[in-house]
Amino acid sequence: MNPSLIRQRFDQRAARYDNPLTAWIGEQELRQIRPLIPPGATVLDYGCGSGRVTLDLASRGHTVTAFDISSGMLTRAQERTKGLPPEIRQRITFVSDLEAIQQKKWDCITCIGVLDYYPQPHPLLRHLASLLAPDGRLVITFPNAHSPLGWTYALASRFTVPATPRTPAFARQVALESGFSLLALRYAFPALPLLGHTLVLALHKSTDASTEKK
Ligand SMILES: C[S@@+](CC[C@H](N)C(=O)[O-])C[C@H]1O[C@@H](n2cnc3c(N)ncnc32)[C@H](O)[C@@H]1O
Repeated sequence: MNPSLIRQRFDQRAARYDNPLTAWIGEQELRQIRPLIPPGATVLDYGCGSGRVTLDLASRGHTVTAFDISSGMLTRAQERTKGLPPEIRQRITFVSDLEAIQQKKWDCITCIGVLDYYPQPHPLLRHLASLLAPDGRLVITFPNAHSPLGWTYALASRFTVPATPRTPAFARQVALESGFSLLALRYAFPALPLLGHTLVLALHKSTDASTEKK
């Protein structure tokens, strides 16, 4: 599915995107994502959606720029900040213009639940690499192809925006081929390799892929 169709589908779903079940699953993922964000990092949340990761990181002291191709999802995320204390709100900037986020290099980028929709993830990963500072960190997710929950999600997603589960080996390989080394690979919902719905990868932008660590 091309990005303009993905944008259209998320625009259509934005108003009813959030529900208690996805919030609960989202929290299970956040438990694995949070420890992978460097303390005090300024974060670009690429594909912020309705703001789950953006709001969580801002509430933990990070300054976050939230970017999405769907104006509907960005609006939803902005609405969700209304109840936040001012000191948290002021740490969040919403951006819909790709050029605006290309004006600087980022120390940390999160791209959570976005690569799911790209059967060929290399171009998006290389684009994210181009946005990172030389020693920058990227945190990404894929649905886990080893998990029945990953496949259940993929089947259900046929009715909305089709997602593609990936094996850990594929996720690691595509990251290496896109100019990253692997810092960490985690599983979420639950935090088990063969059951975890989500693969969470922390990647380091590096010219030397031989520095890969487990
Ligand atoms: C499943 S939502 C995830 C949102 C959020 N990151 C989270 O974890 O809750 C996927 C979001 O990625 C956005 N998206 C998809 N492709 C994108 C792209 N190429 N650039 C920016 N945003 C994109 C969609 O518009 C949608 O809001």
